[in-house]
Amino acid sequence: MTGPPTNSTTSADRRFPDGFLWGTATAAFQIEGAWDEDGKGPSIWDTFGHAGNIRDGSTGDVAVDHYHRYKEDVQLMKAIGATAYRFSISWPRIFPDGIGQPNAKGLDFYRRLVDELLANGIEPFATLYHWDLPQALQDKGGWQSRDTAKAFGDYSAYIAARLSDRVRHFFTINEFSSFVELGHGRGILAPGLQLSPGQVNQVRHHAVLGHGLAVQAIRAQARAGTKVGPAEQIIGTAPVIETPENIRAAAAALRDFNAGYMTVMMEGRYTDAFLAGQAADAPTFTSEDLQIIGSPVDFIGTNIYMVHAFVRASDSERGYEVVAGSSMVPPPARPYQPTHARAQYPNSEIALMLSPESMYWGSRLLVDVWGAKEIFITENGMPTTAEEDAEGFDTGRVVWLRAYLTELQRATADGVPVRGYFHWSLMDNLEWGAGMAPKFGLHRVDLATQKRTPKLSAAWLREVARQNAVV
Ligand code: NOJ
Repeated sequence: MTGPPTNSTTSADRRFPDGFLWGTATAAFQIEGAWDEDGKGPSIWDTFGHAGNIRDGSTGDVAVDHYHRYKEDVQLMKAIGATAYRFSISWPRIFPDGIGQPNAKGLDFYRRLVDELLANGIEPFATLYHWDLPQALQDKGGWQSRDTAKAFGDYSAYIAARLSDRVRHFFTINEFSSFVELGHGRGILAPGLQLSPGQVNQVRHHAVLGHGLAVQAIRAQARAGTKVGPAEQIIGTAPVIETPENIRAAAAALRDFNAGYMTVMMEGRYTDAFLAGQAADAPTFTSEDLQIIGSPVDFIGTNIYMVHAFVRASDSERGYEVVAGSSMVPPPARPYQPTHARAQYPNSEIALMLSPESMYWGSRLLVDVWGAKEIFITENGMPTTAEEDAEGFDTGRVVWLRAYLTELQRATADGVPVRGYFHWSLMDNLEWGAGMAPKFGLHRVDLATQKRTPKLSAAWLREVARQNAVV
């Protein structure tokens, strides 16, 4: 009698490459708290929260108290068998005024954190900017000012010189598109501005310029062998039906939709369609800027949550058409414009939120379009509510993740050079303007006691890491 294989979860066809890194991701403002402790200066997110702009009245003053509980949090990572951790460095903890006098105690915190990680066999990956700009720089124009890009380069150089003895991978900026479009166009993230399209275009240019300056600073200041790249939420495309023509169409659309971010960072030039789309609102820039922005990176880091546009080939001039797209996808009338302007979430977008193939195409097309040599999935996860998590049964998250990781495994099996996966997030935390209500964690955090409790998904990811396979 034959039956199903009993150990099918460990079959070779579900395994990831040897040495694949399994980790979790967090960001300083979302977890640290200690907002004014040990010499830290205020960030734009402190200001934004204190002004009552976070939906449930939350602030980052305490958040989930990671600043004081980092050792316990490293143990949570260790318990799930994590081999890597992506955290962000709070710029105003290091430079309370954004520039000038550094705060030694701020740097000390990250040194202690990194030492703790290394002592527990967990490789640190540091993000230099996860949206918490020093308020002092915002007061001087923030990302509207070119000086902020320069200050970001200087801060990156300072960190590289002091942490690259123990941190071998740096991400420059997290999700450019979110803080630029939502923070400066729609005003729903800090600094809460609703600038004109031309001003937003300038902010976007300064953000990618800041990235390029940070890449150069790391090359100049960090120990040999230190790797650097962006961590962007690429506006992801996928062929709606997997044919060679539709795959080419998805690649062309990817390049267009990300023209102001990943395309210029990887190619060192704005595409003609991008500039034409911005017309009179185009940013001011020099050819030297473009060279800096296009500084070669060692890897691409990408946050993947969904396919933003399913596309197919068409005989239009662009060669593709969008079959179902989210509000992030530029409308065809203009090749490019700040797309978050379309505030409503159509039904099709909700459906796109369950699009595990984003893992396959979101990594594979980086090779097809830009020849990526190394890729990290810098974020992936889904929110639940407190009610859903109350019993610890975040089964939905496990089902969702299994589907996504199945597609990620398909990518690695096809030779796509994905080196690691960082789950968003280690524990429930402050979800920016949405406050504490969305629960993204593998661990539940009781906000009254700060007690951390593993959810079912933590046990599941531990098994994935242990077997280095989809289970
Ligand atoms: C994007 C951001 O990088 C992260 O900070 C955020 O909490 C998650 N994705 C979930 O929305």
